[in-house]
Formats: sequence, C-alpha cells, structure tokens
Amino acid sequence: MDTLKERVAVVTGGASGIGRALCLAFAREGARVVVADLDEPGMAETAALVEAVGARAVTVRTDVSRLDDVQALADRVWRDFGGAHVLCNNAGVAISGGLESASHGDWEWLIGVNLWGVIHGIEAFVPRMIAQKQGGHIVNTASMAGLIASQGLGVYNTTKYAVVGLSETLQKDLRPHGIGVSVLCPMGVTTNIRQSARNRPAHLENPQSPPGSEVELIGRYLSPEHVAERVLRAVRANRLYVITHEEGLEPLRRRFERLAQGIRESQ
Ligand SMILES: NC(=O)c1ccc[n+]([C@@H]2O[C@H](COP(=O)([O-])OP(=O)(O)OC[C@H]3O[C@@H](n4cnc5c(N)ncnc54)[C@H](O)[C@@H]3O)[C@@H](O)[C@H]2O)c1
Repeated sequence: MDTLKERVAVVTGGASGIGRALCLAFAREGARVVVADLDEPGMAETAALVEAVGARAVTVRTDVSRLDDVQALADRVWRDFGGAHVLCNNAGVAISGGLESASHGDWEWLIGVNLWGVIHGIEAFVPRMIAQKQGGHIVNTASMAGLIASQGLGVYNTTKYAVVGLSETLQKDLRPHGIGVSVLCPMGVTTNIRQSARNRPAHLENPQSPPGSEVELIGRYLSPEHVAERVLRAVRANRLYVITHEEGLEPLRRRFERLAQGIRESQ
C-alpha cells in the first residue's frame, strides 16, 4: 500500500502489546483505527493514545474465537467507516507445557484464539475487501514459533505453524485482488503475552496450570514499537515475511538442513 492516510485499519488484540503499537503506528500515518479486543479498559487506553496523535479511533469488544463477534466487528467497520483497508489478525494467547500433558481445554483455547481468530478475520473481512475493489493488506500475527518448533511450546507451535501456512496461501489467493498479505514472526517482544491466562475462559481452564502461571519465551526481547514499525514497512512494501529477530536465521537454517537431510535419506 502506498499510503495509509484516510485508510481504515482494524487491529485485533489492539488493547495491549503488539496490537496497541500497531494501532499507534497506523494512526501516526493518518489512518483511522478500529481497536478490537476483549479487554475494554485496555481498548479505551489505546483509543486515547490514538486520538492523542490526532487520529480517529473506534473500539469494538470482540472475542475473535467467535465468528459472530468478528462478523459484527466487520458490520460495524463498514457501517462507521464504509470499508477496511488493513486488517491485522493479531490477537493471540500462549501457554507452555509438554504436549503429553496438554488438556483438551488448552487445545481449544489456543486454537480458538490463535487460529480460528485469524480464520474468522478472513471470513468476515476478505470477501468485503475484495468487493470494495480498493486493494488493501492483511497482517496475520504468527511467531517464530510458527517456523521453528520448541519443546514445551507444542500447542502454541501448532497454531502458529497453521497461521504461517494459511498466510503463505492467502498471499497467492489474494494477489489477483490487489490485497497484500504479511505474516509477522517475532521471537520475544515485551508485551503482556506471558500473562495470557488473564483472558482464559473459565470453561477452558486447565487445573494443572493455575491462572497466572507465566509463559517463558526464548531469546532477545524487542519493543512492540520496533515490531510495529517493521510491520508498517512490510505493509508499504507488500512483503510477506516480517521476521524481526535476526537471531532466528541460524535455527531456521538448521531446520532447513534437517529437511534437506530428510530428502537425501528418503531416496
Ligand atoms: N510477545 C511476544 O513475545 C510474541 C512473540 C511472537 C508472537 N507473538 C504474538 O503477538 C500477538 C500479540 O500478542 P502480544 O505479545 O502483544 O500479547 P498481549 O497479551 O500484550 O496482547 C494480546 C491481546 O490479545 C487480546 N486477546 C486475547 N484473547 C482474545 C480474544 N479471544 N479475542 C480478542 N482479543 C483477545 C488480549 O486482551 C490482548 O490485548 C499474539 O498473536 C502473540 O501470539 C507475541
């Protein structure tokens, strides 16, 4: 996209962390911002920050794991702003623990937010964005955990690998419509992700992981503002991969080498 001025940017998970930084980055470019999240006080804070840089903000309480909520979000965006140009499917939650001990609630919660959340965004927004014939851009937040599998992050890895695969295909599918796709794959970012349990629905609780148990992510921590700036550049340049941590290169090379070895050994 050449400009974000007067465009409409919708950010799920916009009440905190990377989502909030994305809202502010788009606002500084002159976009109108729609903040969608479960956390109403957090959304109000983001909206105040967006307005402080002179942009318009609207907040819509949305549980991305519910298709009805995301459809209602799209209805609201079209009603209030007449369309959407950037959609960031960014809301996400993390847990840690071995796959051998993952509860069914762990799977349902993470797949519901991290994968169904992205799918719901595509279902609710993409057909309307195609119909409005103004191009646009979709940003899906995955993780380095969508490219490299780490012990203890199996449920999270499963959802994020799926988001990477989905995004790689979506880019091909939407190219004829002039809609770009980026997939954000950071390692550590200083956000509230380690306290994801604050948003866990009661019926999906895992008695083995009491509320408040924190997720440890590996590697260097970047600021959400730094990450949002990289996303902005990728939207402008229409680049698929936003891989913010250069230290990801070596593990990625090792993974590729293991895949190449798998081919050699399977002949
Ligand atoms: N922080 C990191 O180190 C890191 C690294 C890689 C990827 N990510 C990804 O970045 C994205 C943003 O996370 P963050 O790090 O900013 O964490 P964060 O906890 O600061 O923000 C996540 C936001 O998502 C919202 N949310 C949670 N469940 C929701 C639901 N069902 N519906 C709507 N909103 C919901 C939360 O209320 C919160 O505002 C996530 O997809 C996460 O997996 C984070």
